[in-house]
Amino acid sequence: MKELSLNILDITENSVKAGASVTSIIVEEKGNTLTLTIEDDGKGMSEEILRGVTDPFYTTRTTRKVGLGLPLLKLAAEQSGGEMSIQSTSIEDDPENHGTKVTAKFYKDSIDFTPLGDVVSTVLTLIQGHPDTDFYFRHSSEDSGQQDFSVELDTRELREVLGGDVPLNDYEVIKWIEGYLSEQYQDPGDI
Ligand SMILES: Nc1ncnc2c1ncn2[C@@H]1O[C@H](COP(=O)(O)OP(=O)(O)OP(=O)(O)O)[C@@H](O)[C@H]1O
Ligand SMILES: [Mg+2]
Repeated sequence: MKELSLNILDITENSVKAGASVTSIIVEEKGNTLTLTIEDDGKGMSEEILRGVTDPFYTTRTTRKVGLGLPLLKLAAEQSGGEMSIQSTSIEDDPENHGTKVTAKFYKDSIDFTPLGDVVSTVLTLIQGHPDTDFYFRHSSEDSGQQDFSVELDTRELREVLGGDVPLNDYEVIKWIEGYLSEQYQDPGDI
């Protein structure tokens, strides 16, 4: 994929499909590394599924035989000299504390590093498509040859402010979120 933000969209869709009520998307840039963590409280994976999951021929979908989300993220990470790992606890194994955490590390100075791209659009697309699911997004950058920043959004807080009357995929709300995020990127001064 041309942009990591498209991989993020794909991996987060898995979380939503797994019935997550909250999915965290954390992008941490530090020096020449970028670490992506996507963590959900969905139904998790059995050990058998987990074992097969980075194999492109493994999928539980029935419409198409090949699942590509995780193998493509793994490939992108490895091409840059980094790696991907998955931890998961299935709801059957632990009904109280289940979910999945995907971590991928990238080296930004590799010529095969896939640029992050438009991660704000990815977050907006996710909220627009899944207004009843919560997302926590954080993107921080430290010692990366640009001004340090930390951008954050928690739809649970937003929901509280909106008071349940306005859905998160309301046009005005989406526009507001877009502005809120861009402002944080443009003015990292007070963090
Ligand atoms: N966060 C998750 N929670 C629970 N199961 C997951 C999660 N992510 C992936 N899986 C399981 O791993 C399988 C493979 O995921 P992957 O994204 O690689 O392919 P896919 O979702 O099946 O197809 P595609 O992403 O190409 O549409 C999924 O079918 C699902 O069973
Ligand atoms: Mg998928």
